[in-house]
Amino acid sequence: MRTQIGIIGAGPAGMFLALLLQSRGIECVVIEQRNREYVEGRVRAGVLEQSTVELMRHLGIGERVAREGLVHRGTHLAIDGKLFHIDFAALTGGKTVTVYGQQEVMRDLYDAAVQRDIAIVWDAEGVTLSGLEGDLPAIDFRHRDALEHIDCDYVVGCDGFHGVCRKFIPASVLNVFERAYSFGWLGILADVPPANPELIYANHERGFALASMRSNERSRYYIQCPQNEDAAQWPDERFWDELCLRLGPEIGAKVTRGPSFEKSLAPLRSFVSEPMRWGRLFLAGDAAHIVPPTGAKGVNLAVADVRLLSTALEQYYKQGSSRGIDNYSRRALERVWKAERFSWWFTSITHRFPDMDAFARRLQIAELNYIQESRAAQQVLAENYVGLPLEVD
Ligand code: FAD
Ligand code: DHB
Repeated sequence: MRTQIGIIGAGPAGMFLALLLQSRGIECVVIEQRNREYVEGRVRAGVLEQSTVELMRHLGIGERVAREGLVHRGTHLAIDGKLFHIDFAALTGGKTVTVYGQQEVMRDLYDAAVQRDIAIVWDAEGVTLSGLEGDLPAIDFRHRDALEHIDCDYVVGCDGFHGVCRKFIPASVLNVFERAYSFGWLGILADVPPANPELIYANHERGFALASMRSNERSRYYIQCPQNEDAAQWPDERFWDELCLRLGPEIGAKVTRGPSFEKSLAPLRSFVSEPMRWGRLFLAGDAAHIVPPTGAKGVNLAVADVRLLSTALEQYYKQGSSRGIDNYSRRALERVWKAERFSWWFTSITHRFPDMDAFARRLQIAELNYIQESRAAQQVLAENYVGLPLEVD
């Protein structure tokens, strides 16, 4: 088999890239180790930046998100149960975010890929790459007990944090930057109406809590807990009790309890691997960087990477210019680091850290109070949350 771009991984990065390339007349094949049901079933992110929603519209997959997505013009922060509001739209010249689950985004992407005859190989095992330093890179893998081989012009590693592509960059070239956190988020989904029409990021003495949603009938809640916590130790009643405590009496009284149908623990990590290009291999999305979920940046960052990369590849194929692909790693990383900074900072002012003494806690509260009182501070939060500009020329 031969194609122009071989994409490893059919998550958000891989599928947005495939649709972008197809819309620009560039051929690609997507190779995924799982099956569609598995990837579509993974409960993950919930908040899309406006530019992500605009890209969906531009790609002709924006109809359902326009109909079913919940546009949020702001968010709430809470300090020990006392709420205050950040008005994104007023602070950013009208920008908003949209609550629409990653599972729904994946369904829209796969439906479009099927309609547009984009080749996706599901259940591909043992992917290996070769020839990345030469002119003819190749992908080898096993599929239904047969060995497959694809020659291509470029390979894009969209295979997430645990993927294989990053490992093909020699250790002497790779620079890895990492912060581990000693806590995670325990998240639940329940078919109960959300406690509040907008999200609430709550800093509480007992730890962070987040009130989110998937629709007006489906709530998504998270509480900070130790990273090795066993979700089985958190029967629903225990979760609801702790959540209500951390959200405080006013919002706690508005929480509708009900049976959860999903409960899982997500670790928190900051991670960047540089460069995002080596020879004929590019990395995009979680394969190159992870942010703690506090700023809701994971999916949006993956989308920004592939917007940049698809424009660069179009310049390469249509104008014969390699300027875009040569600059991809530098330009993507510049923006990635800003999102890393924001996600780290937002995590640092909202969570309880194990080594936090009374002084550190007072500083956190002072910072949140400052944000509550200062329009300038609110603007800094808002413009990062709705998404920093991305110039794709
Ligand atoms: P992924 O979604 O990880 O997709 C990579 C794909 O590559 C997967 O389908 C995988 O099966 C495939 N793959 C991996 N290895 C191989 C291989 N060797 N061969 C072939 N295919 C391979 N972000 C938020 O903003 N908010 C959240 O609440 C949030 N919660 C999260 C919870 C969890 C448990 C995780 C893991 C992530 C969460 N994220 C969240 C982050 C967000 O989901 C990711 O940033 C986003 O999915 C990144 O997309 P991606 O396409 O780069 O990577
Ligand atoms: C959700 C996840 C996030 O990480 C976040 O910051 C906001 C919302 C969610 O899953 O709804």
